[in-house]
Amino acid sequence: MRRYLVNYNKNFEIEKGYDIVIIGAGIAGLYMSLMLPKNLKIAVFSKKDIYDSDSCLAQGGIAASIEDDDRSLHIKDTINAGCYVNNLDAVKILVDESQIAIDKLIGLGVDFDRNSKGDFYRSLEANHSFPRILHVNGDATGKGIMDVLINQVKSAENIDVISDIFAIDIVDNNKKCTGVTAYHNKKFLYFKTKFCIIASGGIGQIFSKTTNVDVLTGDGIAMASRAGAVLENMEYVQFHPTAFFCNNVKKRMFLISEAVRGEGAVLRNIYKDTFMKDYDARKDMAPRDIVARAIKDQMDKFKSKYVYLDATMYNKNFLQHRFKTIYSKCKDFGVEMDEEYIPVTPAQHYFMGGIKVDMHSRTNIEDLYAVGECACTGVHGSNRLASNSLMEAVVFGRRAALDISERIKNYEYEEKNDFCRSAIEDKYSCIDNNRKIEFQIIKDHLKELMEQNVGIIRNVDKLNYSLKYVDNKIDELENLEFDSMDYMEIYNMYQVAHSIISAALQSKISIGSNYVEEYCKSLVK
Ligand code: SIN
Repeated sequence: MRRYLVNYNKNFEIEKGYDIVIIGAGIAGLYMSLMLPKNLKIAVFSKKDIYDSDSCLAQGGIAASIEDDDRSLHIKDTINAGCYVNNLDAVKILVDESQIAIDKLIGLGVDFDRNSKGDFYRSLEANHSFPRILHVNGDATGKGIMDVLINQVKSAENIDVISDIFAIDIVDNNKKCTGVTAYHNKKFLYFKTKFCIIASGGIGQIFSKTTNVDVLTGDGIAMASRAGAVLENMEYVQFHPTAFFCNNVKKRMFLISEAVRGEGAVLRNIYKDTFMKDYDARKDMAPRDIVARAIKDQMDKFKSKYVYLDATMYNKNFLQHRFKTIYSKCKDFGVEMDEEYIPVTPAQHYFMGGIKVDMHSRTNIEDLYAVGECACTGVHGSNRLASNSLMEAVVFGRRAALDISERIKNYEYEEKNDFCRSAIEDKYSCIDNNRKIEFQIIKDHLKELMEQNVGIIRNVDKLNYSLKYVDNKIDELENLEFDSMDYMEIYNMYQVAHSIISAALQSKISIGSNYVEEYCKSLVK
């Protein structure tokens, strides 16, 4: 695979004004930027608008082991959902530092929902043995937190948010990160930095049915891998059981939060029968991978494109308040959720794999960090517990910031680590700038291929076929000159798809979200 996506003959303008560049403006990137010392000059890249992130959409909430919650139970629930392949150190850190995280978010101005007594309103979601999910404004938790972070970042004098910027590549010199190349306002730029943090989020757009925003094409993971960063757990892709079903999926599907089942709603098949009891003793509150597979099984069995979520046991008033966003969106779709069942189907939602990092969010490339969904601490194992993702971004974002704050005190500038034009030029011997590709077509092909063959239920033949297809396409793209963001994005998508499929094939075991038919037992109990 190619090392750099863009030839240096593009005349990069060199930007030397920043100590730190953070690629990504979701909760991980923004929170981390606020935890860094104020004397550091920080650039935060946003691929589109700062509100275009999955963090802004997060409904369920943020799982936190606080007050009377027994931490050991949160640890147990997390590793049980993750099928016991989680990194236990990371799980303990996540749980032990969740109280600090909530205190810090409140300190920044986040106003978590409270009950009439003034206590936090904490709710349940699947596989949590204790109500420990905090929210903001009902089902608008992500937006509530992000509004606060965005305001804080905008008023911080040391932080510049650069919107509509596409990060291209991490530049390294002998496995030491020296900066990042980017495309912005039709110009190629090279940001020379002391530290670079990838916080670019997930990979959802490589599937045709996803709840992820359209910018999430795995760019950060792909660029890290080209720079030699180790990737881990790439086979673990999470499918959320309940996205609102509609025939024409445009860019992303609307999520019906697991919190709706957490409050008591139940799944029913197309004949309106409940079915989760046939698959798992925890029924509708089983971990996500189990529920998503059960739904797929029911849809296959009865040849339906969806199942139903029944929340009609609640009155309008409760639903309108507790699930403001979901209630009004269902209404827009023509469903009164207090009277009618909601048609739902599983859709790609989260990625447990990514750039391997240690407990300070460091990658194996010196001075390169990764935080949030693109990073893999191993905390989620093979299947993430509901609402642990926002907490992971905050806890490990702060850890990265603390680590950099210490390390930057002894940072020494070395001339030899400066941008090395010849090193990049050397990698380009055969650039073909005459051939054009139909990027929309090959993008759609990839999304459909991943959806059909690398989804909730996988098998070895389909994985082998898909790997061949993806590798052939990568070969076709290998020598092309990339002069637009679309081309670079597609290369990244194919590269990430390659890593996911290869990992699924190499795993030789079916566990959690990597369900490979040849290696597992029957779905029904
Ligand atoms: C949800 O509200 O169901 C999604 C929350 C999460 O992804 O954990």
